[in-house]
Amino acid sequence: MITLAEVLRRSTGYLEQHGSPTPRLDAELLLAHGLGLSRIELYTQYERPLDDDQLAACRELVRRRGLREPVAYVIGSWGFRGLDLAVDARVLVPRPETELLVDRCLELLEAVERPRVVDVGTGAGAIALSLKSERPDAEVVACDISQDALDVAAANAARLGLDVELHLSDLLAQVPGDGFRLVVSNPPYVSEREMANLEPELSEHEPRLATVAGRDGLEVYRRLLPEAAGRLVDGGSLALECGSGQAPALVAELAAAGYGQAGVDPDLAGIERVVWAPWR
Ligand SMILES: C[S@@+](CC[C@H](N)C(=O)[O-])C[C@H]1O[C@@H](n2cnc3c(N)ncnc32)[C@H](O)[C@@H]1O
Repeated sequence: MITLAEVLRRSTGYLEQHGSPTPRLDAELLLAHGLGLSRIELYTQYERPLDDDQLAACRELVRRRGLREPVAYVIGSWGFRGLDLAVDARVLVPRPETELLVDRCLELLEAVERPRVVDVGTGAGAIALSLKSERPDAEVVACDISQDALDVAAANAARLGLDVELHLSDLLAQVPGDGFRLVVSNPPYVSEREMANLEPELSEHEPRLATVAGRDGLEVYRRLLPEAAGRLVDGGSLALECGSGQAPALVAELAAAGYGQAGVDPDLAGIERVVWAPWR
């Protein structure tokens, strides 16, 4: 009989050979999922023998990860600001840096009662659902151009009991109403050229619709800035996530579109990641 410790060791080695940047962490997450344990329990049951069914289940999870499928897709869920979101290949895996965009949104909404908010390109619903969870008085609307993504967001909203209004829409075109205090978006921002150099998790597994935005990665912002301006109340804000090196261009685009003085927040790696600006 092979022990859990040995399976963990072999899985880590296999994932390392197949190019995972975090092989031990991946192996722990996959085995914990396959065996129905928490990561802590892996250690308390280190010497436990695994039977054939358990081995086969774990092997299949590790095999998929060896093909560089994101761990989140393999286990079917991912954490975002304390929410457990179901995710699969229909949506981008929510990233930790997007949690900082939500921090900025909460700050922008701090003094506003019952704010009306719209999340453009909601994917699995990470931004919209965490805003609704952390500001239950907010009226949260979310949209996506992908019906597949909206289905994932709707299932997450229902499971978490969070009331978010969802619309199938190209940016804000099919979203009804105005008077938004905040328009927030983590849109596609990878340029076609950059895409070729990205890790296979992103370039081969995550939806292209969620990642690529034209030749310089700024195409979606250029369309969104004027659309958002038409829906914001005076003093409302647009808050955006952007890619490494894009913040200065985005700040310039905001100024050209008539927004007020923009602010920029770095992420934990020091990359300028969140750009926001008031409307008027
Ligand atoms: C980078 S993902 C972000 C997903 C999610 N908001 C997050 O932060 O994890 C971008 C999302 O925008 C959607 N999208 C792309 N183009 C769009 C458009 N023109 N209108 C609305 N949504 C769009 C994609 O389908 C995808 O779900």
